[in-house]
Amino acid sequence: MAVSRCPCVLTPAGVGTSGDPGVLTPKARGALSEQLFEVMRTGATSWHSLIDAEPESRDDAHIALWALYELHYRGFDDVDDSLEWNPGAVAVRGGLERQFEAELRARRTPVDVPRSFADHFFSYVAGHDGASLASFIHREADLDQVLEVLRHRSIYHLKESDPVAWVVPRLPALTQAALMELQYDEYGRGNPNQLHAHLFAKGMEASGLRSGHGAYINDVPVEILEQNNAMSLFGLHRRVRGAALGHLAAFEVTSSLPSRQVSRGLTRVGLPTEISAYYDEHVEADAVHEQLAVRTICGSLLEQEPGLVDDVYFGAFTCLDLEDRYARRVLGEWAAA
Ligand SMILES: [Fe+2]
Ligand SMILES: [Fe+2]
Repeated sequence: MAVSRCPCVLTPAGVGTSGDPGVLTPKARGALSEQLFEVMRTGATSWHSLIDAEPESRDDAHIALWALYELHYRGFDDVDDSLEWNPGAVAVRGGLERQFEAELRARRTPVDVPRSFADHFFSYVAGHDGASLASFIHREADLDQVLEVLRHRSIYHLKESDPVAWVVPRLPALTQAALMELQYDEYGRGNPNQLHAHLFAKGMEASGLRSGHGAYINDVPVEILEQNNAMSLFGLHRRVRGAALGHLAAFEVTSSLPSRQVSRGLTRVGLPTEISAYYDEHVEADAVHEQLAVRTICGSLLEQEPGLVDDVYFGAFTCLDLEDRYARRVLGEWAAA
């Protein structure tokens, strides 16, 4: 007989994890996304003109792809749920994904396959010299800049770990068990109030921000859309499961110390403890998760499927590169201002 492990009541924190009222389709960023959202909202059958249509810009492509992925998460209030597996929607998504994946693969230099995976992976991540948004938040950012970053980050943190959850049934048993150990923490260890996405939602509300899924989607730069779309791309395609876990491992390895810096920065600009608590949780948790993700999750995957090593590094590079692109974008804009 199933026994409930959780004695607690969920503390309301907006829609991140409770009573989700959904969200409307975002603002279009070009002709392709405009036509796509119109078709999604009205249920018109003119998908054929969208398949392999050329987007006007990266913004146009990525807001379209983000919205198509969203059909697999929480959906939209103004779109029928049945569109999730509509052949036209899947075909449009496929065209955008092929273009995006080709761009991501073209950005990186493949690494020589290491003899000892874990040590090599840690030094590979450490050797990636990217811009540090966390250290700027720690020491210099003002309140408006910090709030801007929280709005941007909310697109992912309010559905934290959901893209990785798609990967679980696609893995060998040892890797599944290790990944679920990590996911168990991410999803609150049986306590909905400790769910990381819910911690972030509570922090957003305490900071005077909205906590609805995609509430700030119209405000985010394309680099944020790319980050989110890459995670969904890796999560939803079994063929790139190695990239999904490499991305996860790089994410965890680069989380603990930056989380401490961000937490201190949030406190410095006067934001409430609810939001710094989210980052504090990651200081300790991700110090453990980085070992779990690299040594046990990726390690066990590669022992059983060594041919996936290149994709593990592809996922890791993508994680580091997209974060670097986002950091350079916001730091550059603030410097220019
Ligand atoms: Fe987390
Ligand atoms: Fe984590």
